[in-house]
Amino acid sequence: MKQILIRPEIQSYGTFREFAADYALDERDVILTNEYIYHPIMAAENLKCGVIYQEKFGAGEPTDIMAEAILKEVKKYDARRIIAVGGGTIIDIAKVLVLEGGKDIDDMYDKMASLKKGKELIIVPTTCGTGSEVTNIAVLNRTKLGTKQGMVSAGMFADKAVLIPEFLGSLPYKVFATSSIDALVHAVESYLNPAASVFSEMYSVRAIEMILAGYCRIAKEGQEAWKEDAEDYLTASCMAGIAFSNNGCGAVHAMAYAIGGKYHVPHGESNYQYFVPVLRWYEKKAPGGRLDELKDILKKNMEAGGFGRTDSDESAVDLLGELLDRVLPAKKMREYGVVQEDIAPFAQSTVDNQQRLLKNSYVPFSREEIQAVYQSCL
Ligand SMILES: NC(=O)c1ccc[n+]([C@@H]2O[C@H](COP(=O)([O-])OP(=O)(O)OC[C@H]3O[C@@H](n4cnc5c(N)ncnc54)[C@H](O)[C@@H]3O)[C@@H](O)[C@H]2O)c1
Ligand SMILES: [Fe+2]
Repeated sequence: MKQILIRPEIQSYGTFREFAADYALDERDVILTNEYIYHPIMAAENLKCGVIYQEKFGAGEPTDIMAEAILKEVKKYDARRIIAVGGGTIIDIAKVLVLEGGKDIDDMYDKMASLKKGKELIIVPTTCGTGSEVTNIAVLNRTKLGTKQGMVSAGMFADKAVLIPEFLGSLPYKVFATSSIDALVHAVESYLNPAASVFSEMYSVRAIEMILAGYCRIAKEGQEAWKEDAEDYLTASCMAGIAFSNNGCGAVHAMAYAIGGKYHVPHGESNYQYFVPVLRWYEKKAPGGRLDELKDILKKNMEAGGFGRTDSDESAVDLLGELLDRVLPAKKMREYGVVQEDIAPFAQSTVDNQQRLLKNSYVPFSREEIQAVYQSCL
């Protein structure tokens, strides 16, 4: 049985300048990024390579339509390497750009197991959440299906994942908060996955420790404190990515895709909606065992960071909810426009489209149970 696979090689650089010099970027390289990430840091290097700004092809998280338009654009270049410099949106599109063997995006989903990599892929994450730099999955909104879905292919593993904390300097607080919560969910869902190994668990636990230490500091010192821990968050999100890349996320991610697809709630924010409610559901349905071990880890780390009291018997899950609320106040689904009539179709869509994730849940989730959790979050 597989214990752990870590791909690709992970590197770090103090600055983009050092990275660009080491990689000798030239005319056969294409950078996929956003203009507001390119200008403050990359523009000064007078690079010879091609640059594509994702936002020229549509706003928000990636859709099949956006990815298809960028695929056409990239064909105008004789690209040898694609360099993704951005958040999960940029990274996931770049993963599709390097694949060969599909006519269009729908066809690529149908044939994903047989797609091959045709170009080198270098990934530089500029948020601290997705861990997408170390996974072989891209998540696109499939507009005809009305939900987000993962495309999985061995050809999507990057050739190098490069951590350059300099890029996090321009990250707005809210993107920091939602993306780092996404990383925490990756670590926790991977930890609770029945297929977790002692190796994946090690990456989960270290990521949880680093993120909770940072969150406790925010609770004590205020929002700006995250910037001093930016490098830790970037490392932690990569570690959480290694963990879930080996066994997968579960019910929280499965439930998040329906609201993400219909109401365009950003990925980290939609996971946040269901994170604590799903843990509470597990507490009710399957107390003890591995969940208790997780709760011990959560509590120990929150107490070490000065959040919560050792003599309190408050559940670690409730305490975690309070800490997350200090990082970013939680919202109900209604605040995004969700109505009662959405609840049953959301539960059905989760069952129909997200079995890949649901099968990794700590305990099995029926359609009725999913619907009940959605209802509690409305
Ligand atoms: N493939 C995977 O393994 C995986 C895992 C988790 C999430 N995802 C996907 O990743 C996407 C979410 O990615 P994300 O949370 O990184 O957000 P994102 O990439 O959508 O970025 C959020 C916003 O922040 C901006 N931004 C990013 N970096 C910035 C920087 N350094 N400075 C200023 N602005 C910056 C972006 O332009 C965007 O407007 C979703 O589509 C989700 O489904 C993929
Ligand atoms: Fe995620």
